[in-house]
Amino acid sequence: MKPFIKIVTGCAAVLAVACAVGYAYLNAAFPKVEPAGNIRIEATPQRLARGQYLVRHVTGCLGCHSDRDWGCFSGPIKEDTLGKGGFHLDKKLMGLPGDFYAKNITPYHLKDWTDGEIVRALRSGVNKRGEALFPIMPYDDFSGLAQEDLYSIVAYLRTLKPIAFDPHARRLDFPVNLIVKTIPQNPGPFPPAPDRKKTLEYGRYMVNATGCMHCHTPLDGQGRPLPGMEAAGGLEFHWPDGSTVRSVNITPDKETGIGDWSKDYFVKRFKLGQKMAQSHTPVKPGGFNTPMPWQEYGGMTGGDLAAIYAYLHNQVKPVRHQVEKFTPPASQTAFAQ
Ligand code: HEC
Ligand code: HEC
Repeated sequence: MKPFIKIVTGCAAVLAVACAVGYAYLNAAFPKVEPAGNIRIEATPQRLARGQYLVRHVTGCLGCHSDRDWGCFSGPIKEDTLGKGGFHLDKKLMGLPGDFYAKNITPYHLKDWTDGEIVRALRSGVNKRGEALFPIMPYDDFSGLAQEDLYSIVAYLRTLKPIAFDPHARRLDFPVNLIVKTIPQNPGPFPPAPDRKKTLEYGRYMVNATGCMHCHTPLDGQGRPLPGMEAAGGLEFHWPDGSTVRSVNITPDKETGIGDWSKDYFVKRFKLGQKMAQSHTPVKPGGFNTPMPWQEYGGMTGGDLAAIYAYLHNQVKPVRHQVEKFTPPASQTAFAQ
């Protein structure tokens, strides 16, 4: 064999072995999470009520894990599909590296999971078998929930009507199919329950639990939040009809954000959004629609919404960033001109 070819084949062989070893290591060593806790969560009336409030209005579980009527404003949840799963999130809709389907979280699917396994999924981001979930499932946020809130969510999930439905399996692009394994982490001890009297601290807790920042912060093309643009809006959602909606700037910038909104206006805006979603306001194909789950968030108490407002106004840096909220499908733009 010629030395050159020898070197090339030698290199290829070394590379192949390195890849195989690397892959085996990745599979064996990750995700690095502890075994599920051996706990039993008692379904007290307080927990069921708190869990229902959080799941339905704060943590957005059912907005992703149920069917929604996208023919109407804000895609109201179809009440007979609560927790059924199947919602498809992908590259086309929001630039994700693969195809993801929300799982069935009714007792049909979770009946064999222990309480500890569900808690671990919500805090560490691994399924019953310890395999990594893709972080579009916002477990990093949920690891910021206090123990009692998380236990309340699990207790409430157990009361959903079982729905026999098996969503498609996910498909991850290379190399995210490998990287995903390294993302789950042990979140450590539960954070303490926030003090409601400390409005800003409590507002921070609520903004994390509701996931506002995920949708209202633009990404850098690698799926990471763009530095310096927290809450500045511009994340795009591409609807199947060809229209595009963008999250708006919710920093306290007076001109391009919500700096001149009063607290009362902010709370009223959420109640109005809820009303529009609940009354199933139809949207024509190509018309303005939004993924912002107004129906769910609008059910938050005035106090919780006010705390969110206070946090956004006082703790988020104002960023000047004008966002065009909606672009109709190209055909309709041409028609309008
Ligand atoms: C932004 C959408 C979104 C939100 C909000 C969300 N999830 Fe998920 N969830 C998903 C997706 C997508 C998956 C599947 C991830 C994957 O396949 O890697 C998932 C996976 C799960 C799993 C793992 C099930 C399994 O079989 O592996 C559980 C349990 C779960 N979610 C519960 C919840 C609960 C409870 C909440 C609210 C506290 C919630 N999710 C909020 C999208 C979401
Ligand atoms: C699933 C993505 C998503 C999440 C989560 C989300 N938003 Fe939005 N939001 C949007 C989009 C897209 C728009 C622009 C379309 C519209 O007005 O609904 C928007 C619009 C808004 C508006 C502007 C309404 C107006 O009148 O111009 C406010 C205020 C707002 N969001 C605040 C929040 C807060 C606070 C949270 C967390 C509690 C949040 N959003 C969570 C996507 C999201």
